[in-house]
Amino acid sequence: MNKKVRIAVLVSGGGTNLQALIDAQKKEILKSGKIELVISNNSNAFALKRAKKNNIPFEIIDKKDFEEKLKEILKLYKIELIVLAGFTAILPADFVQDYDKRIINIHPSLIPSFCGKGFYGIKVHEEALKKGVKITGATTHFVNEIIDGGEIIMQKAVEVYEDDTAEKLQKRVMEFAEWIILPQSVEKVCKCILKNILEEK
Ligand code: GRF
Repeated sequence: MNKKVRIAVLVSGGGTNLQALIDAQKKEILKSGKIELVISNNSNAFALKRAKKNNIPFEIIDKKDFEEKLKEILKLYKIELIVLAGFTAILPADFVQDYDKRIINIHPSLIPSFCGKGFYGIKVHEEALKKGVKITGATTHFVNEIIDGGEIIMQKAVEVYEDDTAEKLQKRVMEFAEWIILPQSVEKVCKCILKNILEEK
């Protein structure tokens, strides 16, 4: 069967995690799903340039009527799995419930540490350094109505060094955890979705 899960990646910034997914697709680490669409809530996101360069269709949705437009676009592209890769907006609870186990997020810490409301971007690593943890990492999880509260898919630990700054730590967590487990998690979930489709037939 050649069916692949149709994936939309939601981004707001640099898009290095999107790039990791694109690279994984090329290397066939991600082979049970295909990135069909990139959606951004920020028209200046560098992630959009990455989409363009790789011939992936992209859409920009601004704040106004965001939910309505998002639903419309996802339907139009027949999207079956949503990946939040550095997407800064919180998706409304009713939307999230409609996509139960169909939305994946990547968070730059080992959940349940340094997660939840207010823990995003560099702040996560600043707090990890403040606490003096010796190990941190990244977590992929399904999205539910609780911020960073959905079922965990994968985690990978990264060592914290004595002379770390938040920026250095952020970079290490991305390189040695996020860019590895995000594509692996997406493949794992896509495989599962395909298996369920086959069994339903
Ligand atoms: C990553 O650290 C991700 O874990 C977090 O936001 C950052 C996005 O980076 N959710 P990028 O846009 O993928 O480069």
